[in-house]
Amino acid sequence: MKGKSLFITENLELRLPEKEFAKPLFQLVQNQREYLGKWLPWVEKNKVEKDSLAFLKSSILFNNGGQKLTTFIFYNNELVGSVAFVMINKGNKAAEIGYWLSQNKQGKGIMTQSCERLIKYGFEKMNLHRIEINVAPENSKSLAIPQKLGFHHEGTIRESLFFNNKFYDGEKYSLLKREWIEKK
Ligand SMILES: CC(C)(COP(=O)(O)OP(=O)(O)OC[C@H]1O[C@@H](n2cnc3c(N)ncnc32)[C@H](O)[C@@H]1OP(=O)(O)O)[C@@H](O)C(=O)NCCC(=O)NCCS
Repeated sequence: MKGKSLFITENLELRLPEKEFAKPLFQLVQNQREYLGKWLPWVEKNKVEKDSLAFLKSSILFNNGGQKLTTFIFYNNELVGSVAFVMINKGNKAAEIGYWLSQNKQGKGIMTQSCERLIKYGFEKMNLHRIEINVAPENSKSLAIPQKLGFHHEGTIRESLFFNNKFYDGEKYSLLKREWIEKK
């Protein structure tokens, strides 16, 4: 990504990770540990601010190496969440998307717009062919996102997600570049 951010609207942007995000990132996780920890396995490993810093440093390395593309969502200049290509398979021109948003910023369409922006970047600038997502069927708010964005439901990947000491099925959704172009 050239430059440090992708603007979506005047007050909503996706910023590339910087070490300075450690404090606001840790505060957000700390304040919503129970809520976010329900669906995000990395939350319980994020115990002190240094863990957030380490995560940011590794995100910068993975972004630079092209293995992932992590961005943070800023709403009115406040860090409120993240949307990322959590896995990029360059050979297959495919990526998996992942996301989370502060509980008190939900219900405004922020994540739908943020995903739309990253998907546009993936298809137009990274020349991806396919973007997929794997969501636990119990996570209805997250399931709504690929459904709203016109992803195809490909099937249930049985017990493919493991967190909080439990296996969850993964509902696999995908969007191909040609389908994205058609629905533009
Ligand atoms: C999944 C998650 C990101 C969804 O957040 P969200 O705010 O509901 O997502 P959206 O941005 O799509 O917003 C949709 C809501 O905003 C409303 N909305 C308002 N303006 C909107 C707009 N312009 N566009 C779309 N939706 C809009 C919708 O009606 C919807 O409200 P509803 O939930 O009452 O039906 C959030 O619940 C989350 O972070 N969960 C915990 C972490 C997690 O589960 N991550 C995913 C793991 S697979």
